[in-house]
Amino acid sequence: MRTMVLNASPRKNWNTAQMLKSAQKGAESVGAETEYIDLYDLNYTGCRSCLACKRKDGQRCHCFWKDDLSPVLDRIFATDTLIIGSPIFLGDTTSQFHALLERLDFVTLSYDDYSHYFEGKVNLGIILTMNAPLEFYKEYYEAKINEQIRQLNFLNGKVMIYPSFDTLQVKDYSKYNMAASDEKHKKEVHERQFPIDLEQAFGMGAMLSKL
Ligand SMILES: Cc1cc2nc3c(=O)[nH]c(=O)nc-3n(C[C@H](O)[C@H](O)[C@H](O)COP(=O)(O)O)c2cc1C
Repeated sequence: MRTMVLNASPRKNWNTAQMLKSAQKGAESVGAETEYIDLYDLNYTGCRSCLACKRKDGQRCHCFWKDDLSPVLDRIFATDTLIIGSPIFLGDTTSQFHALLERLDFVTLSYDDYSHYFEGKVNLGIILTMNAPLEFYKEYYEAKINEQIRQLNFLNGKVMIYPSFDTLQVKDYSKYNMAASDEKHKKEVHERQFPIDLEQAFGMGAMLSKL
């Protein structure tokens, strides 16, 4: 039983990373072998359109571009559970998340009939963290993000999405021009809600890994 955990946040120890590390512990609690990767440490871009994955003599579900992501993609297709975390940047997942999605989706896509070549099953957990509260997420982000995650349905597994709202963005708001955020409120949410979010992430890691 293998679980891969991918951090698509540039920050290695903040909200998204903490949620992911909790999900990783959840996976390990049910006996999964885990691997954790900070995507911002890898050197990669989105698809380069070399089309080697579409060649008649080529291999399916394999990216031929030689960079840090291609071996990770190979491991994703061989894992049982994949958990990806991303903060919301400008109403969307991060650019590293997008580039990963582009590569993962395209190498499995058939240009003969637009079906997907991947025949295995990978359970998918998505962790999102954001400044926005729940209501704002529901109104402006949720439909778009769900549509994006639906692109990964070809992984054929169970999909769970866990958003964490109103996150603490910096330790000391007084040092920044961030008057739109109420520090007292942010800290209250961080103390009351974030531990619950960490527990939920643990549960997600455990549940997806034992399916
Ligand atoms: C470049 C940038 C853009 C952001 N855009 C949004 C946004 O559109 N909506 C939102 O709710 N939060 C936004 N945020 C806040 C982050 O999503 C939030 O602080 C998140 O929890 C950060 O994750 P991290 O702690 O793992 O780095 C943005 C942060 C940055 C740095």
